Amino acid sequence: MIDNNISPFIKWAGGKRQLLPYIKEKMPLKYKNYIEPFIGGGAVLFGITPDKAIINDINKALINVYNQIKYNPIELMDFLSKIDIQSDVEPKEYYYKKREIFNDKIMKSEYDIELASLFIYLNKHCFNGLYRVNSKGLFNVPFNNSLAKSFNEDNIKAVSRYLQKVTILEGDFEVACQNAQEGDFIFLDSPYAPLNDNSFEAYTKEGFDIESHKRLAILFDRLTKKGCFCMLTNHNTVFIEDLYKNYSREVIKVRRYINSDANNRKGEEVIITNY
Ligand SMILES: C[S@@+](CC[C@H](N)C(=O)[O-])C[C@H]1O[C@@H](n2cnc3c(N)ncnc32)[C@H](O)[C@@H]1O
Repeated sequence: MIDNNISPFIKWAGGKRQLLPYIKEKMPLKYKNYIEPFIGGGAVLFGITPDKAIINDINKALINVYNQIKYNPIELMDFLSKIDIQSDVEPKEYYYKKREIFNDKIMKSEYDIELASLFIYLNKHCFNGLYRVNSKGLFNVPFNNSLAKSFNEDNIKAVSRYLQKVTILEGDFEVACQNAQEGDFIFLDSPYAPLNDNSFEAYTKEGFDIESHKRLAILFDRLTKKGCFCMLTNHNTVFIEDLYKNYSREVIKVRRYINSDANNRKGEEVIITNY
């Protein structure tokens, strides 16, 4: 463990802060590399700060933020400070203007420091910290009416120091796990399986469908045969129970914050382990 004073620098749908105490309690005492193929906001990574970690996500704009914090934290904070100062005058108009610039850069594939600063600013000022995109992959979440600062300087510096030892990958979860070795610990927190037939999770324009969940279960079996420690979290549904029926399961009651439907704020999550 390296630095215990790190917090996620963004809010993220499906963030695992609430489950962290259970995850810590159930993780293996000793392991070689830590691999997190669905890193999102990194609540688990920053909660446990393993010495040797490999992180990955399919969201290219998100991975660009991790890389910019790792390699250019000071310049990134300069960009963010300027954005925050300018946003004070007409915050709502400013937000939509910045959202347009962000989407313009996504369309031009400009994955740079400016895009990273816009990503963090939009995340802190959008409704519920959601990253929702339309069919063209463009960010479309409305303003949340907050004037909060986009970042905490000490935290960005601490995250940057910690990330120096972390390998950052971008792409599909299966590729991220292809070099996993016996004794590695792999924490798998994919987008949720549907709670019912009408619900779906759209983190990226690709989404994560039923076939992806089945592919993940096959990977879980493969990693188990290799001798890796695997831990997976999801909604406690019949579909997930069935996919992982050969493994240990612990059901945990949680409060759901990200869903705007008040009836759906409580639920059950399951932690599945192969050890
Ligand atoms: C539930 S979130 C992870 C949340 C994270 N544990 C946290 O605490 O913030 C799931 C993540 O999986 C990513 N994702 C979706 N499909 C993927 C794929 N095929 N391969 C890798 N990552 C994917 C999404 O972009 C999203 O960031």
